[in-house]
Amino acid sequence: MKLLIKSGQKLTDPEFLQIKESHFREFKDGPNKKEDLINHIFFLLKNKKKILALGALIPISFISFNAEKFSVLGIGGIVANIKRKGYGKKIMTAIRKYLTIKNITGVGFCGEYNVPFYKKCGFKTDKNSIKQFIYYKNDKRIPNTMNDHVVYLDGKDDFMQKVLFHPETDIVLPRPPNW
Ligand SMILES: CC(C)(COP(=O)(O)OP(=O)(O)OC[C@H]1O[C@@H](n2cnc3c(N)ncnc32)[C@H](O)[C@@H]1OP(=O)(O)O)[C@@H](O)C(=O)NCCC(=O)NCCS
Repeated sequence: MKLLIKSGQKLTDPEFLQIKESHFREFKDGPNKKEDLINHIFFLLKNKKKILALGALIPISFISFNAEKFSVLGIGGIVANIKRKGYGKKIMTAIRKYLTIKNITGVGFCGEYNVPFYKKCGFKTDKNSIKQFIYYKNDKRIPNTMNDHVVYLDGKDDFMQKVLFHPETDIVLPRPPNW
């Protein structure tokens, strides 16, 4: 078993197909072509050619919040193809190390059911701030209707600490919060 960290640009065709299959199975949505993933940083736990678990960090910039601009890494597409064998935790541990070494904030979203998993992997979660994550489409404010929790690890910008300190302030994303 080995854990690879690789750019979306460097995915092989069999890796892309397995990622696509996992995403459509678990999220009913996913990438249609490799080009959709070129700016992602992938974390793949592999046994020979088979991907056991996967996840990605997706650059999100710029986020406008409280008169500041932030660049964070979106935590997305976390899947263990075989559940409850510690494979998901191996991915999240590698992601945690990556964020810690780079000192960059990571932010993702998850349902209530997965909150204990992320906590066990050393991430923080928050329920209240989810409604602050909005974006604009054609000058129209699109509110966040997800009932999710925010999963995060703060880096040197202390992004989520600042968010928690201003619970009424919009976090304006450059894209929908669907990474
Ligand atoms: C969420 C997911 C990635 C977890 O991966 P996994 O490989 O099954 O989890 P692990 O075996 O690594 O579990 C790590 C720890 O979390 C615990 N855990 C995992 N899922 C849990 C859950 N839903 N509730 C409570 N604890 C959970 C495990 O018991 C384990 O605890 P331990 O370290 O004390 O032994 C996996 O369930 C999955 O692929 N789900 C479908 C896709 C999905 O929802 N992804 C998340 C999107 S936000």
